[in-house]
Amino acid sequence: MTYWLYLIFIIFNLLFYFICRVNKPPKELDFIPTVSFFKDILILLRNGGQLETQNLFRECDPNKIGLVKHYFFGWTIHITNIEYAKLFLSESAHNIPKTEMPPKTPLSIFYGKKGILVSNGDRWMQQRKIASLAFNRTLRPDMVVECTNEFITLLNKWTDTPIDILSLSKRLTIQILGKLAFAYDMKALDSLEEQPYFLDIYNKIFQHVNNPFFMIFPFLNLLALKRNIEFSSLIKEFNKFILKMIEQRRLELSKEKNENENTDLLSGLLEAANHEEYNYTNKELRDHLVNYLIAGYDTTSTSISIILYYLAKYPDIQKKARDEVIKVLGSASNFITSENLKDLKYLTAIIMESLRLYPPAALLVYRKPTKPFNLSENITIPKGISVTVNFWQIHRNPDIWNDADKFIPERFINPTKEIENNWIPFSIGPRNCLGQNFSMMEQKVVIALTLLNFEMSFPPNAKHLDEIPLTKNFLLQPKKIDLIFSKLK
Ligand code: HEM
Repeated sequence: MTYWLYLIFIIFNLLFYFICRVNKPPKELDFIPTVSFFKDILILLRNGGQLETQNLFRECDPNKIGLVKHYFFGWTIHITNIEYAKLFLSESAHNIPKTEMPPKTPLSIFYGKKGILVSNGDRWMQQRKIASLAFNRTLRPDMVVECTNEFITLLNKWTDTPIDILSLSKRLTIQILGKLAFAYDMKALDSLEEQPYFLDIYNKIFQHVNNPFFMIFPFLNLLALKRNIEFSSLIKEFNKFILKMIEQRRLELSKEKNENENTDLLSGLLEAANHEEYNYTNKELRDHLVNYLIAGYDTTSTSISIILYYLAKYPDIQKKARDEVIKVLGSASNFITSENLKDLKYLTAIIMESLRLYPPAALLVYRKPTKPFNLSENITIPKGISVTVNFWQIHRNPDIWNDADKFIPERFINPTKEIENNWIPFSIGPRNCLGQNFSMMEQKVVIALTLLNFEMSFPPNAKHLDEIPLTKNFLLQPKKIDLIFSKLK
């Protein structure tokens, strides 16, 4: 008890210290509008989410000078103007490295030291080259079709029952990622009653990694607390599982003759590394593959959930999309190819509009320029300050997007150059999303097959019809939203 009181006392002291600093932003940033610190804290206390925080950014008129500054245990500049964002994102990754993670925290232990998401400099460049080759081979829809068919079989047992769409799409996404990364069956779609082993352990680890208290006060991770001990044993178990999958795949690959048949990232990495005369240890492979899982898991499951939400919300849009899918693919799923997916113009517009309103990575991971960065003749970002690109604000700029908060997929049918230019949910430049093409293909297949089999609707008396409630997570994540899937007659 005394221990906890002591801890709370320290934390309050630190909080007070930080609050005092808020009133003194660096002088050279004075001209940038500031998000109200106190309103921000109130959102935290009320257990609000990203939506409320982004609304605070709006109060700062983000389009006036295209920058907003935000204090949260340190200052960060948010770029909210597309031209500045393009300039910043096109800069060499060497000059705007990602902010290093504090060592020995659950976050850095989980991501590992060598993965692409956390690397900078030459190590990142080499990984990017090898990973790009591996990703090029993944663009075959057959694996996604196979997983989505398992998903449909599972849903058939749960028709006309309210189901939380995020937990459902997480199962589907991890099943697909298991096959994409390791050619491994995660057994995530066998039943809704049981939590698959991998998802269970992954989600528990994620709760540790995302604990804001432990992020703000990293020294807490070094104490012999029950939760730290639990995290250590979880991560050991997780790494053992990943290494087992790697070993199993290595063994399979050593027996297989036709390399071109293998579209999983692990076999792609090993092959590409061979060409580059680079030898991966299992520990390095673990870091790379875990980074791909992290990059692809929450992003895609959030996106699929939000698309399903909008289809349920707007039955006319749902019908129009279904009619298109039937016209392009017929009523059977067995002839989905990369070619005919291109003809799903309306469905693609729905996905793009959903990613505009709710870009799953709403903020770029923070960067720290290694030298002063000129955004214009008059605006220079000082060296060493945290900078992010706020995709959410760029995607809702009312000067570009008519009825910016409304879901209007039609804006992406024959879009203007300006619209194309302002849509950047996968980021742009040298560190843009490596999974963009795979993810767009994946979302099209999943939504097309779901439309062919089910009608989506809200349960009677459903809440959240107007706005999607979001958690506080850095990556967007909807809170619980139930949908009903009814078998199409
Ligand atoms: C809707 C789905 C997705 C969205 C919106 C998305 C968005 C993004 C964004 C914004 C970045 C840049 C992050 C930064 O630099 O701060 C990124 C990077 C990345 N994404 Fe995605 N992503 C998605 C799905 C995927 C999938 C399915 C994979 C792979 C399985 C993937 C793999 C990666 C990788 C490896 C990077 C790091 C690239 C680098 O640092 O060079 N992403 N993604």
